[in-house]
Amino acid sequence: MATKAEARARIQEAYHDIGGPVFSAAEFTFTKVFIDYKGWDAIPDEGDIAISELAEKIAGSQELVDRIVTFFFAAKTLANPAPGRVAHTEKSRAYKSDQPTAWLYVHMFNNVFRSFAQVPTFFAKHGLSSPESVNFTPLGLAHGYEDKPAYEIIVADKAVHKGFNEALRSIGGMYSLRGVYDFGWLREPLAAENESQRPALVDVGGSHGLALCDAVRNNRFIPAERMVLFDLPQVIENTKKNHLNEDLQKMQLVGGSMFEPLPEPIHGALIYQFRRVFNDFPDQDVVRALRNVRKVAAPDTRVLVIEELLSEKRLPMNVVLDVCLLCAAGRRRNAAMYSKLAESAGFRLNGEFQHVNSQFDDFSVLEFVVT
Ligand SMILES: C[S@@+](CC[C@H](N)C(=O)[O-])C[C@H]1O[C@@H](n2cnc3c(N)ncnc32)[C@H](O)[C@@H]1O
Repeated sequence: MATKAEARARIQEAYHDIGGPVFSAAEFTFTKVFIDYKGWDAIPDEGDIAISELAEKIAGSQELVDRIVTFFFAAKTLANPAPGRVAHTEKSRAYKSDQPTAWLYVHMFNNVFRSFAQVPTFFAKHGLSSPESVNFTPLGLAHGYEDKPAYEIIVADKAVHKGFNEALRSIGGMYSLRGVYDFGWLREPLAAENESQRPALVDVGGSHGLALCDAVRNNRFIPAERMVLFDLPQVIENTKKNHLNEDLQKMQLVGGSMFEPLPEPIHGALIYQFRRVFNDFPDQDVVRALRNVRKVAAPDTRVLVIEELLSEKRLPMNVVLDVCLLCAAGRRRNAAMYSKLAESAGFRLNGEFQHVNSQFDDFSVLEFVVT
């Protein structure tokens, strides 16, 4: 029998083991709360502020704000220069509105953190295997839906959709294809077929058109008029309303779904590109979308899949994002996995172009041609 002291030591150890994860979960939660209530913005950039004044600024009770701020002192997220006063640290400044970290927090909290809590329930209902359909996901359960596509859930909730969009926008710049993929081969067919006006580049799931703007800025020989932004109708409406810059105004913006027969204006394009789309979908949907492209492809059409791939090195950030994607029935894949899916849709891998930059944001361009 363990002595009382031994039992106590064991319990202390157990608390210690669980303390780290619980602390991180609390930090995630209350950081998101302070983002929502603009608590981070209410603290002056330089100098400090009384906790009571901070509570007033964010319309919170002083008692609660004091508890949360005390927690942030322990987390070393906020500094406590004098009793009852609070100041920013380097870490907390990144949570101010419109900073990329803040948007990623909102997106990750809404769509991943909340979903993680539903993963055990999901497995209990559907069995211990990866979600096979976007209709039945831990993300769905987290948002109160038993049977609804993950994207529809995100788009239907204004706050969640804004968090998702802004997170995408804030990190979109790092996926520039400049120096990674050479669009030079388009010069010839574009010149030869000037009359036909077939689309040069269709960005499927192109959202705000960041990828197309990057392509046109770096390849002025591709006429913006022959670029097509294709995404769900609500997303296209949002882009038209909020994000139209000079280049996008010249492009064609077409609403629809990659799972429905693709509309006439986007048939026969030189390139169909899927940037950061397929990671969000299970295998069967990737094949469905590629088959739809195959049906309208020309013999010289190329398909670009631009994604962060599953790394053989099992880097922590790479692998953790794979289990994040699991919550929405998505997954990270390597080139061989994509190749297999593309082959069953009538394409073969023609090249892989890598962007290797750091431990987590490496992405590849997989180029496929029709078989
Ligand atoms: C992670 S975002 C990537 C956006 C953009 N390609 C980028 O790299 O910034 C995935 C995009 O796929 C779009 N999408 C989801 N389901 C779709 C469907 N069935 N048809 C077309 N686009 C879809 C979403 O609306 C969203 O814009």
